[in-house]
Amino acid sequence: MHDIIRQLDEKRAAARLGGGQKRIDAQHAKGKLTARERIELLLDPDSFEEWDMFKEHRCTDFGMEMQTVPGDGVVTGYGTINGRLVFLFSQDFTVFGGALSEAHAEKICKVMDHAMKAGAPVIGLNDSGGARIQEGVASLGGYADVFQRNVLASGVVPQISMIMGPCAGGAVYSPAMTDFIFMVKDSSYMFVTGPEVVKTVTHEEVTAEELGGAVTHNTKSGVADLAFENDVEALMMLRRLVSFLPSNNREKPPVVPTEDPSERIEMSLDTLVPDNPNKPYDIKELIAKTVDEGDFFELQPEFAKNIVIGFGRMAGQTVGIVANQPLVLAGCLDIKSSIKGARFVRFCDAFNIPVVTFVDVPGFMPGTSQEYGGIIKHGAKLLYAYAECTVPKVTVITRKAYGGAYDVMSSKHLRGDVNFAWPSAEIAVMGPKGAVEIIFREEKNDLAKIAARTDEYKAKFANPFVAGARGFIDDVIMPHETRKRICRSLAMLKEKKLENPWRKHGNIPL
Ligand code: HXC
Repeated sequence: MHDIIRQLDEKRAAARLGGGQKRIDAQHAKGKLTARERIELLLDPDSFEEWDMFKEHRCTDFGMEMQTVPGDGVVTGYGTINGRLVFLFSQDFTVFGGALSEAHAEKICKVMDHAMKAGAPVIGLNDSGGARIQEGVASLGGYADVFQRNVLASGVVPQISMIMGPCAGGAVYSPAMTDFIFMVKDSSYMFVTGPEVVKTVTHEEVTAEELGGAVTHNTKSGVADLAFENDVEALMMLRRLVSFLPSNNREKPPVVPTEDPSERIEMSLDTLVPDNPNKPYDIKELIAKTVDEGDFFELQPEFAKNIVIGFGRMAGQTVGIVANQPLVLAGCLDIKSSIKGARFVRFCDAFNIPVVTFVDVPGFMPGTSQEYGGIIKHGAKLLYAYAECTVPKVTVITRKAYGGAYDVMSSKHLRGDVNFAWPSAEIAVMGPKGAVEIIFREEKNDLAKIAARTDEYKAKFANPFVAGARGFIDDVIMPHETRKRICRSLAMLKEKKLENPWRKHGNIPL
């Protein structure tokens, strides 16, 4: 028996060594941790249960039968984060460059299948050279098996991808279908075709970092949600993200007790909105002063900055926050911000996370680039997302809510549950200047008359009371009591039940 136990120990030690010390050293030299070191940091101490440590590939081409490594380039299993179950896979770049074989894919599929049965999130730590070249189509089949599971798991359990090395070719489409993508700066990249192919086809010269590095996907493409300096920071933030999320679509997110009173008054908010309606202010100040302990987990902070999205807690309960940002493009909705907001609202709706919306929006962005780019369809995504959303929706209009954008931003008409306005709110078809120039076009050369008309319009429409008179606004509230009123509304909505009509699925304007 002792011999057998010793043999097992030896086998385990061999598996733990992955591609060998030399390749582990090379991984470290690149500033990257190994697959197992990453798991150790991500999970609670001693919580990891590994599966398929001895699984090997079955390829016999190109001399591969002579090169087997137990585990086949991916470490899989389950463990806990803050005591809550998660399933995960961590690709091991030291074994065939983390390349995906049929057996490697089977390991990933196994944890995904169990995650679905157990109702727990799936976390992928990606660090892979892509399809295992020696395996050809078997590897492609393996990817497709993972893709299929990504789609079936979408909206059922949270799926989170952490890109910690290469992720290229069709391999990008598994992370692309997960709910969140985090990337590590300078060591990770994602692209459908690499710099060499780009050069051949389009004659563009671009580095891997420029084409698909963490900064690119967090600022230009919006593919990624956050970028981190190194593996350690990235993994710590992943733990933090998980703390906001429910384990599956049938659960509510965990409640985190707070010392922050839900009735807290924040007097400084009374002077947040400047007297001049054209002067911007930072909506993040309102968010920070409203959520529990000022703790806001922002997503995509460097992309489409005219809308702010992220998680916070109100009275301990996770909320998704969507807010127009007057500091950027005056808070206009454009293509990118509509897509950013829409996807986030849909995530919250799928996972029972109430949505709190702060509105200061002068409208949709005008211009040929927006129209040619399809703002009609993309703006409709945000509208669709809010309209189909059945989780509690609380909305606060701080200043402008003009035109179609008023309707879109979680208005009463889209089944907003509680819609507040600050006294500074201006809810109208458009801003006073534009409105007067259209209605009183014939007076446009008479500046005194135009000024008088503008004042008249302002008094009549640029306030929250016209909407209030119709019940489109439930109450006009003092800015300083915003947190208290939202917390009370969310408490009232705790057991909210609302269902959409049965259908196979809707047809969101993609
Ligand atoms: C098998 C691979 C591999 C792969 C890397 N390796 N990629 N083995 N299949 N796809 C092996 C290398 O042979 C090497 O083995 C080890 O991993 C480390 O690779 P290096 O090249 O030494 O590392 P580095 O210089 O850091 O470069 C990493 C790399 C490069 C940029 C990922 O290896 C590379 O370009 N690989 C090929 C990428 C590729 O074309 N993949 C297919 C994409 S198409 P040794 O023994 O020397 O340590 C695709 C389709 C998916 O993925 C479709 C899904 C639908």
